[in-house]
Amino acid sequence: MTRQKILITRAIQSDLLLRLQQHFDVTDNQPDAEWDAAELQRRLKGQAGAYMTGIERVDAALLAQCPQLRICANMTVGYNNFDLAAMSAAGVLGTNAPDVLTESTADFGMALLLATARRMAEGERYLRAGHWQRWRYDLFAGAEVHGSTLGIIGMGRIGQAIARRAALGFGMQIVYCNRSRLDASVEAQWNARYLDKQALLACADHVLLVLPYTPQSHHTIGVAELACMKPTATLINIARGGIVDDAALAQALREHRIAAAGLDVFEGEPAVHPDLLSVPNVVLTPHIASATTGTRHAMATLAVDNLIAYLNEGRALTPLNLADLQRP
Ligand code: 8YV
Repeated sequence: MTRQKILITRAIQSDLLLRLQQHFDVTDNQPDAEWDAAELQRRLKGQAGAYMTGIERVDAALLAQCPQLRICANMTVGYNNFDLAAMSAAGVLGTNAPDVLTESTADFGMALLLATARRMAEGERYLRAGHWQRWRYDLFAGAEVHGSTLGIIGMGRIGQAIARRAALGFGMQIVYCNRSRLDASVEAQWNARYLDKQALLACADHVLLVLPYTPQSHHTIGVAELACMKPTATLINIARGGIVDDAALAQALREHRIAAAGLDVFEGEPAVHPDLLSVPNVVLTPHIASATTGTRHAMATLAVDNLIAYLNEGRALTPLNLADLQRP
């Protein structure tokens, strides 16, 4: 029997490559070469499945060239690279990798909040540059974290894991906004208060963004929203580039209209808005919120499990559009 063909678009852990090779005829990309859209299309032609990393755009134009394709498995929880309607129309399943990264990403959200509020990156740059000559009472004095008010925009699994850390570990008051209000029992667990965006921005000492990127969430934070925030507040984005208007944020930081920002994601990444690179009161990290060795392996394993389950048995562990595919 001829084996089904799959494409792995990026380098993958070697044990998982081996597992996929036991089931499929695999085209891999272990050198981790950069493929543009034309190259991805060329390589995807004739494949039944694809292992993806959340950045490969899958849309109607690509799907039209790949009639054999049955599944695209993201190893990420975010799936804004998928045009799910086009995938459903083409009979292609999309899967993502939720849950397995929740706790590590929440750890990182707290780390970035702490580093930003307590000015750790600024202090480190100062020390490394040899500027530290003597102690001063206000040297890199930052904002309080414990006991402060944390505004979480996007109260899904990761948002709630951050709320738990913030409420139980740091005695923070939690306010949140979300597409839908959480059950009263969940709110009660973290003593979380549901507010609209404007009210949240006005009262939060720290604002943390952890919502999915959609056309509706584009520039959730722009000029108007930055103007609502306290001048002492910090803004943390661990969600997606495009949720913040990075140019407007850089200007607000430069003019000290907010105190500081911590950013793990950027509009048009890996490019970073040049103004963000020149303002001192921002902590910048290269999209690593889920990057622990164990978590990245768990995310990749879930994508691999989805490919094997769907192509061999017609079922998936974390499908996004299975119901649409099954509709007559
Ligand atoms: C990925 C993420 O590392 O899972 C997600 O949605 O943002 C990260 O964990 C990133 O998307 C890689 O492209």
